[in-house]
Amino acid sequence: MPIDAILGLQWGDEGKGKIVDYLADSYDIVARFQGGPNAGHTLKFDGRKYVLHTVPSGIFREHITSLIGNGVVIDPITLQREFENLDTAGVEYRSRLYIAKKAHLILPTHRYLDLASEADKGKEKIGSTLKGIGPTYMDKTGRNGLRAGDILSSEFRQRYNNLKQKHLGLLKTLPAVDFDLEKEEKNWFAAVDILRSLHLVNGEYFINDQLARGKSILAEGAQGSMLDIDFGTYPFVTSSNTISAGVCNGLGVAPRNIGEVIGISKAYCTRVGRGPFPTELNDEAGELLQKQGNEFGATTGRARRCGWIDLPQLRYTIMLNGVTQLVITKIDVLNVFEEIKAATHYYYNGKNQSDLPFDLCDVSVVPVYEAFRGWQQTLDAAREYDDLPQAAQHFLRSLEDYLSVPITMVSTGPERERLILKK
Ligand code: GDP
Ligand code: IMO
Ligand code: MG
Repeated sequence: MPIDAILGLQWGDEGKGKIVDYLADSYDIVARFQGGPNAGHTLKFDGRKYVLHTVPSGIFREHITSLIGNGVVIDPITLQREFENLDTAGVEYRSRLYIAKKAHLILPTHRYLDLASEADKGKEKIGSTLKGIGPTYMDKTGRNGLRAGDILSSEFRQRYNNLKQKHLGLLKTLPAVDFDLEKEEKNWFAAVDILRSLHLVNGEYFINDQLARGKSILAEGAQGSMLDIDFGTYPFVTSSNTISAGVCNGLGVAPRNIGEVIGISKAYCTRVGRGPFPTELNDEAGELLQKQGNEFGATTGRARRCGWIDLPQLRYTIMLNGVTQLVITKIDVLNVFEEIKAATHYYYNGKNQSDLPFDLCDVSVVPVYEAFRGWQQTLDAAREYDDLPQAAQHFLRSLEDYLSVPITMVSTGPERERLILKK
């Protein structure tokens, strides 16, 4: 059985949580392979809403085993809060959740550093979620980090203190920011005790063993391909490989194990935080997308920037990921529009181009749009693909033609059941 991957193809928040929750029903295991609590994945069912940051989005399906892979960075404090929410919801997770010992830990001082580095950048800041992601991955590649498995070592406190001292030294070179380190540390060690009581495993053996037993696995991406550390709009990116290649080093599996690559895109486009966004709309249409889509961050509550769907951008991320199926979410947000647009090309260096330039931060590209007629009706009654209005079907067919990938699902609302499967 191969591992299928599900990934965001834009700048995050494409609706990964909802689709993973739906698809999880037909898998045995759901595994997160990168990112950390900068992710906010929203699930809605039975009239309730849940937001997950580190725990894989299959957790609400009782038969599912969940793995937090080695490529993830874990903040024990956030994880503890997620557990409290699961407890309140009456979800049993202890027996079904496994954590890779090689996953790196976010220390309180990583968050402190994130805050101070962003303050230092001033107007040039990335717009980080301030969850300590950048500093933690820096310590990982700088070979200084602490890993989940290290909490079992008798030298853990000492190693923690050494790293903390290093961070305090760095903080002296950065602007002073408000951070109650003593309080955060107290909470952190209490949360580490909870982490110690969970299944900490050698994730790479765990997952390969499950593969050998024929278990079906869904790898859940966080963020989006345009936030990938290598291929995103650098430096306005996150610090992990968010693309399908990240599944291999984020779980410890060989490339030949990857099966379907399910790419998710909104029917339009959003971005939270700073950085280039070619199709951004700073007008009434942008405001309407934001209002209809309720575009506020699931992690930080920040307003998301909105614009039309960007096909050169999607062609790029479909190529990087080897996407085999496309899922279009939030198509209902377009219901009110008389006219809908899709950027088909970028105009730069004197001509229309399909490829992205080396640096979207440097080259100002002008999107070339194709306009589509809106359907201006609700999709509430649509259960099958053929129930969708002709104008919506035409829009979707045009996306498939431009992108050369079949659309297999269309999401028409935040709830679990608002999903149309397309043959
Ligand atoms: P993720 O980070 O990719 O999991 O996405 P988020 O959860 O951060 O953001 C997606 C938002 O859109 C959430 O509030 C979802 O409940 C909501 N959502 C998902 N699919 C749909 C849809 O098809 N229509 C509408 N209107 N909302 C959706
Ligand atoms: P999900 O999984 C949207 C953005 C931040 C910022 C940049 C760097 O919910 O789609 P970081 O915290 O990594 O230092 O932030 O990346 N960002 C996200 N935007 N969705 C996310 O996750 C994001 N995770 C990080 O806003 O611009
Ligand atoms: Mg999100």
